[in-house]
Amino acid sequence: MKSVIAYFSHRGYNCVDGKVKYLEKGNTEIVAHMIACVSHLPLFKIEPESNYPDNFYEYLNITQQELANKAYPQLKGYLHDHYDEIYLGFPNYWGTMPRAVFSFLKELDDNNVVIHPFITHDGGDYGSSLTDIKTLCPHATITEPLSLKCTHIKCQLSAIETWVKKGSHD
Ligand SMILES: Cc1cc2nc3c(=O)[nH]c(=O)nc-3n(C[C@H](O)[C@H](O)[C@H](O)COP(=O)(O)O)c2cc1C
Repeated sequence: MKSVIAYFSHRGYNCVDGKVKYLEKGNTEIVAHMIACVSHLPLFKIEPESNYPDNFYEYLNITQQELANKAYPQLKGYLHDHYDEIYLGFPNYWGTMPRAVFSFLKELDDNNVVIHPFITHDGGDYGSSLTDIKTLCPHATITEPLSLKCTHIKCQLSAIETWVKKGSHD
């Protein structure tokens, strides 16, 4: 069985508890590393090819425009091999996934793949992301997601561990 943890995460200024806060490490990245600790699976970072601006308000504008334009930003890299199982992590952006995750899923070989989504958010839960994953990857099986509020991440190791163990037996 070939498995990977693929995730998108944004370090720097972010929305946490409705406030703008500087994060040394993105919330989803923290969760991805915790999953790697308990599963020993490799990590793959979903990264847009062009760098986003450091200014947080410009970043908000650009990500919102990408969503409005249904953009598929070019990524630095894609998964070229077929994977049987993908732990897919991303933050809730504007009620769904960041558009870079749309780009990642559009290029994915979704035949016989099981996707375990994990989402960090600031109160919006996973929004419409699960429906969007299903639309992009109609042949994939999508399991019960793990959805974590960004203010509660560091104390969630045991919930993460339980979720990973459950996913590996689904
Ligand atoms: C551009 C942008 C849009 C966001 N939109 C939402 C949203 O619609 N709903 C929500 O609950 N949180 C939203 N958030 C908060 C993020 O989902 C939350 O801070 C997440 O944990 C960030 O993950 P990261 O640090 O891995 O990038 C948004 C944050 C950003 C930067």
